[in-house]
Amino acid sequence: MDQACCRLVSTAEGFYSRLIDRNLCVSQECVAVSKRITIMGSTGSIGTNTLEVVRALGSDYRVVGLAARQRWAELESQCRAVEPQVVAIADPKCAEQLRRMLNGQVEVLEGEAGLVELAGHRDTDFVVAAIVGSAGLASTIAAVEAGRHVGLANKEALVMAGSLIVPLARQTGARLLPIDSKHSAIFQAMSAGSVDEVRKIYLTASGGPFRTWPMEKIASATPADALLHPTWTMGPKITVDSATMVNKAMEIIEAHWLFGIEVDAIEVVIHPESIVHSMVEFCDRSIIAQMGQPDMRTPIQYALTYPRRLRGCARDLDFSAIGQLRFEPPDLHRFPALRLGYEVARAGGTAGAVFNAANEAAVEAFLQGRIPFGRIVDTIREVLDRHAVQSNPNLGSILQSDAWARNEVKECLKS
Ligand SMILES: NC(=O)c1ccc[n+]([C@@H]2O[C@H](COP(=O)([O-])OP(=O)(O)OC[C@H]3O[C@@H](n4cnc5c(N)ncnc54)[C@H](OP(=O)(O)O)[C@@H]3O)[C@@H](O)[C@H]2O)c1
Repeated sequence: MDQACCRLVSTAEGFYSRLIDRNLCVSQECVAVSKRITIMGSTGSIGTNTLEVVRALGSDYRVVGLAARQRWAELESQCRAVEPQVVAIADPKCAEQLRRMLNGQVEVLEGEAGLVELAGHRDTDFVVAAIVGSAGLASTIAAVEAGRHVGLANKEALVMAGSLIVPLARQTGARLLPIDSKHSAIFQAMSAGSVDEVRKIYLTASGGPFRTWPMEKIASATPADALLHPTWTMGPKITVDSATMVNKAMEIIEAHWLFGIEVDAIEVVIHPESIVHSMVEFCDRSIIAQMGQPDMRTPIQYALTYPRRLRGCARDLDFSAIGQLRFEPPDLHRFPALRLGYEVARAGGTAGAVFNAANEAAVEAFLQGRIPFGRIVDTIREVLDRHAVQSNPNLGSILQSDAWARNEVKECLKS
């Protein structure tokens, strides 16, 4: 990090020293108040929320890089609004269009190489990893490899390659700060004790749009049904993942990697109001919950300003208006993806890459109307059953497993 643009917050030292052990990947070197931020996936739901947060935070926080896949017109208007130094666009055809519109005012990188270059750019302090799916893996690794601090929204990177990314972050000093609301909640609650004192993590789940639906109705749900999330507004892929509860399965794996917590110490609880974002139970049976409105701007802001807390954009929480908070056990019969999540987390190795790729391919098939909703998780199960898990994979084996799983989904869907 560029020391010149970094003011030290001395009171943070004690706070940090409690968190730097195990897998929290929190390095102690310096807590910057001013930050130069790159947003990977700036045109998406997390990306646009991040831009709103940065705008509200004021001049100490500056966007220096933006990236997306193909929505060049949105990128262009974001460039006009925040004047970054560099942008990257994955689709080379859109890069030409964007260059023409920006008329040399902003450097435009293109393709996966461009995304990787941007994520590790020397003029960036903090990278928000908010590209959806496995497409976010390479740039997340590039940011960590370059020692940039990373606000992690993209959970798929850890699901696929947590065994590589977490040790790499320790090695390079990159800090992995969760943006996912559940993991931000766990991160915040964890600061009430030390990692060794944690007994259990309660990962809350809204239950998605089909929480009360009978199994037969869930099996034939349409994309329109699945895209109607009761409490969160998100991109289409994660919204479908919430409906199948593959999202929660991924969050189990993500929590395991981020916090170094045993898989069996992670318990999923259905909490339809989405007010308690998650809880940590310590060895003395004290349980610390983090609460707030279901608004992604709060965890995004916490990742950006950590370890400080600044006034945010989220609305106040009125407990009297909420009335009650409900907690229910998950139904593994109607939502079998959860069981898969535990199995994959325990299996480790290449299982995460296969799980993620099979899900991405099956969700795409569902959204294109090629398979019914009920077939998504069945397909992932079939592909996982055919996979011989490889332990301690390198990046090459992870990418091979990803490609293999996508091909297997094609085979499954032929039958
Ligand atoms: N949304 C939430 O509330 C939420 C909460 C927790 C975690 N997350 C995680 O955050 C990530 C982003 O979710 P989202 O809801 O923001 O998704 P989204 O609204 O669908 O946005 C996805 C972003 O990724 C970009 N993108 C997609 N494919 C790409 C590629 N091949 N190369 C470069 N950029 C690419 C998109 O660019 P284009 O617009 O050009 O296609 C867009 O900017 C996901 O991993 C999700 O699980 C999201």
